[in-house]
Amino acid sequence: MTTTLNTYKTTDFKKLETKGSFTYSAPSNIALVKYWGKKENQIPANPSLSFTLNHCKTITTLQFEPKSEKGISFDLLFEGQPKESFRPKIQKYFERIQDLCPYILDYHFTINTKNTFPHSSGIASSASGMAALSANIIALEKMISTDKKEAYYNEKASLLARLGSGSACRSIKGNIVVWGETESIENSSDLFGVEFPYEVHSIFENYQDTILLVDKGEKQVSSTVGHELMHNHPFAQQRFEQAHENIEQLKAILKSGDLEQFMALVESEALTLHAMMMTSMPYFILMKPNTLEIIQQLWKFRQETKIPVCFTLDAGANVHILYPEKYKKEVQDFIENQLSVYCQNGQFINDEMGFGIMEL
Ligand code: DP6
Repeated sequence: MTTTLNTYKTTDFKKLETKGSFTYSAPSNIALVKYWGKKENQIPANPSLSFTLNHCKTITTLQFEPKSEKGISFDLLFEGQPKESFRPKIQKYFERIQDLCPYILDYHFTINTKNTFPHSSGIASSASGMAALSANIIALEKMISTDKKEAYYNEKASLLARLGSGSACRSIKGNIVVWGETESIENSSDLFGVEFPYEVHSIFENYQDTILLVDKGEKQVSSTVGHELMHNHPFAQQRFEQAHENIEQLKAILKSGDLEQFMALVESEALTLHAMMMTSMPYFILMKPNTLEIIQQLWKFRQETKIPVCFTLDAGANVHILYPEKYKKEVQDFIENQLSVYCQNGQFINDEMGFGIMEL
């Protein structure tokens, strides 16, 4: 069965007469197979797979108040204070979801949002932010429209999050999420993220991710512009095919628990992502000298200790260090003693696999 967008269009709903609110948290996620390149309407050019995180979260309260005139209307607060710079992204989000959620036009919203990670860390919060907001919208939908199955609401929450920011659709559920239709993953979809439906080796339980904050400055090139540059990119087609192959391979690796293969695939994905940036026209580099220092030190440590620890990168200079829970002490000592010097103000965040959105 192919699911179409129309399945998620809510046509039958009532209007609440009194105001109310919800609060949801949503975590960040780290892609192992990267989403890089998209088509119209936030449809990914290739499938991606991520680990949902646990500590790096956005907490969003959505207040709704019925109003007489229909239209998009909201106030936006960050940690209780008006935040004008977030408005355009949220305005665009509401515009994109209004067809699927026409009930939003009946309310004035006050969105109050905060992050659990340090304000100064500079880590992008669009994934957790859009997932938390979408979880709230779906909570409203549950109140005002006819009952649907839980799976439907999860899919729709992920679909809405995707319209805010692609990677956000992988933050609704845990612990491993696939987004983008691909042959090796049953029921995978371009419209929303699905929980990885196969057996996973116990070595991946509570997998650890320490995020090394190398550079907190504004990125010179945003992800959105980076995705654009995959149009007419000389290596795009091969890259998109490779992502399908890597997901298929990763499916086998997640089952077998072969960490040698896991590390090779994950690091290759990270470097391929940055290779795409370096071979775009115009080209750009988001890694910093300390990104490379960290990678070199990590490889040395791995060779000397044989501890299976590897890295991945997002669209930025920060480095995610991934390792099994049983090596937590050794790896975290190594990070503290040898890698933190390459981080801005020595900052890093210890995180681990988590399960997705939560009502508070
Ligand atoms: C490199 O989800 O931030 O982190 O859909 O334009 O909001 P938009 O892009 P975004 O892209 C994230 C790209 C990535 C890889 C990934 O998370 O898969």
